[in-house]
Amino acid sequence: MAQFALALLLLGLFSNGVLSVNDRLREVFNWRQVDFVFPDQQTRQQAINNREFIQANNMPLGLEVWRNRLFITVPRWKAGVASTLNYINLDSNNKSSSPSLIPYPNFENNLLSSNSSERIVSVFRINVDECDRLWMVDTGLADIWGEANQVQTPKLLIFDLKTDKLIRQYTFKADDMKPDSFFANVLADTTKETCNDAYAYIPDLGAYGLIVYSFATNKSWRVKHHYFHFDPLAGNYHVGGINFQWTDGIFGVALSAVKEDGFRTLYFHPFSSTREFSVSTRIIQNASIASDSYYEFKVLGSRGPNSQASGSSLDEKTGVLFYTQVNKDGIGCWNSNRFADEYSADTNALVVSDSITLEFPNDLKVDNNGNLWVLSDRLPRFLYKGLDTNDVNFRIFNAPVVDLVKDTVCEVQQ
Ligand SMILES: *[C@@H]1O[C@H](CO)[C@@H](O)[C@H](O)[C@H]1NC(C)=O
Ligand SMILES: *[C@@H]1O[C@H](CO)[C@@H](O)[C@H](O)[C@H]1NC(C)=O
Ligand SMILES: *[C@@H]1O[C@H](CO)[C@@H](O)[C@H](O)[C@H]1NC(C)=O
Ligand SMILES: *[C@@H]1O[C@H](CO)[C@@H](O)[C@H](O)[C@H]1NC(C)=O
Repeated sequence: MAQFALALLLLGLFSNGVLSVNDRLREVFNWRQVDFVFPDQQTRQQAINNREFIQANNMPLGLEVWRNRLFITVPRWKAGVASTLNYINLDSNNKSSSPSLIPYPNFENNLLSSNSSERIVSVFRINVDECDRLWMVDTGLADIWGEANQVQTPKLLIFDLKTDKLIRQYTFKADDMKPDSFFANVLADTTKETCNDAYAYIPDLGAYGLIVYSFATNKSWRVKHHYFHFDPLAGNYHVGGINFQWTDGIFGVALSAVKEDGFRTLYFHPFSSTREFSVSTRIIQNASIASDSYYEFKVLGSRGPNSQASGSSLDEKTGVLFYTQVNKDGIGCWNSNRFADEYSADTNALVVSDSITLEFPNDLKVDNNGNLWVLSDRLPRFLYKGLDTNDVNFRIFNAPVVDLVKDTVCEVQQ
């Protein structure tokens, strides 16, 4: 009886957002459904009437933090997505824990019906670089009346966050892509001193390749390697009571700090896999050798059974690599400074896990202040069953990296 009362009490506290069941992550925002800041109420009502805004079909997926802005993407996976690229103002006086998303850079360019050459159709994950620029791939794919339409060729978009201007658009070449290509992630590689010599790494999860883009030459090339493929024994998932099978290849990408030779290590993993791999950026930045350097790509090791991961992010200050754990409703970590080439179930830790609040952790990022941010969104239910709009479905958490890994094998050594 006492236990039951305690459970009720905890449940009550939890649903008020006062106490989170997982005590290492702070829940900052949550939504049953997301809404947007439309230019005015009439425009919103019109969008609903035209079915340009079908609230239940809007699922947040990717996140990124720049100064006081928390960017959130909403891919056009189903019809009726009002705006694909958005943000929340973290300094806002409005302390709502379910704020409306503000279209970025504006509402018009996010309209599927926009005629602008700067229209944004559908964005998954995004990345801010050290030069205050926001990088993304617009897949150009939109659901229109229940069917996926390639309304424009996939392209790389780069915004200057200080001016909110689109400073680069690069449409991928035919030989960058294959029939099953799908670009759900992007990682920019630059330092404050080399802004004009930046690179982007774009995993092709559908056709098992890596596209590299050079900002200096405005050119791209496709890198091939066996390690970009999925593991056929690791494609089975159980999330939120749903069993499904996915064949996603290379997906999570993260960068080490710059090494003595001036290059970084790219850590990568296919989604349907339990292994982590690495390669020096010296190899992939060189188009003439990138696909012909089999032994330069390393198998770091396996995290153990059921450890499939979508997004990943490395904290340069501590060397801790974080990744989602979708089959374990949690977040995993590995300390690259402490363990360098030792990568196994013993050197990785599950730092948080919660079957309710972390049902499908979809994206995570470490910000410049040493905080990890996590977005969970019940994606399998959204895709295969439909979400219960009376329930909290989407959550955003944060926590200081150092606190998060304390007393685990990822602990930061002083
Ligand atoms: C605060 O934000 C919520 C959610 O976006 C909105 O419904 C509400 O009107 C806002 N309140 C004020 C005072 O702006
Ligand atoms: C785009 O152009 C079409 C045809 O000229 C027009 O009907 C439509 O309203 C325009 N869309 C927007 C968002 O301006
Ligand atoms: C880069 O290449 C694209 C071709 O996709 C072209 O449209 C664009 O103008 C080029 N940008 C620069 C800065 O050269
Ligand atoms: C690419 O690699 C080849 C072979 O190692 C080397 O000769 C060439 O200089 C490299 N190119 C660049 C731009 O570093």
